[in-house]
Amino acid sequence: MVYPIVKFGDPVLEREAEEVTEFDTPDLHKFLDDMFESMYAHKGVGLAAPQIGISRKIAVIDVSNGEKPEDKVVLINPMIVKVDGKQEGEEGCLSIPGFREQVKRGRNVTIRARNVRGEVFEQTAEDLLARAFLHETDHLYGKLYITHISALKRDLMKRKIKKLQRAGDWS
Ligand code: NI
Repeated sequence: MVYPIVKFGDPVLEREAEEVTEFDTPDLHKFLDDMFESMYAHKGVGLAAPQIGISRKIAVIDVSNGEKPEDKVVLINPMIVKVDGKQEGEEGCLSIPGFREQVKRGRNVTIRARNVRGEVFEQTAEDLLARAFLHETDHLYGKLYITHISALKRDLMKRKIKKLQRAGDWS
């Protein structure tokens, strides 16, 4: 099932999501399938559960856009444990469609998370996947990428979004 994407302005995007405590259940497996299906349908490389209105610490990533099955990553209750180096690049978010900004992030990132069976794993990534780890983990703590850009740019973006909201072009 493809879920609609929750857009910026909905409070679910700006609060910390709940930890997952039950693993390997049919519901969790189904939910993860739906998250991947929703992410591909909306052409994202990452999707966090709050973006479909579910405030749980679950995110999926596939930086290959469905090209390489081995690139699929499931993150449950993730924590960033190490960040090294720097990268700067354009970032966008399915919840803030039509906008992209330059964002500075770490280049090498180690994440610790649980998989669908509840097993803890660590993975170290660089470049785009490192960026996705940071972006999606931020989502699960109620933080959007626009918190990493200048206040001036953020305010300008928010004003543009308000205009779209008033025109009924945002929801
Ligand atoms: Ni996002």
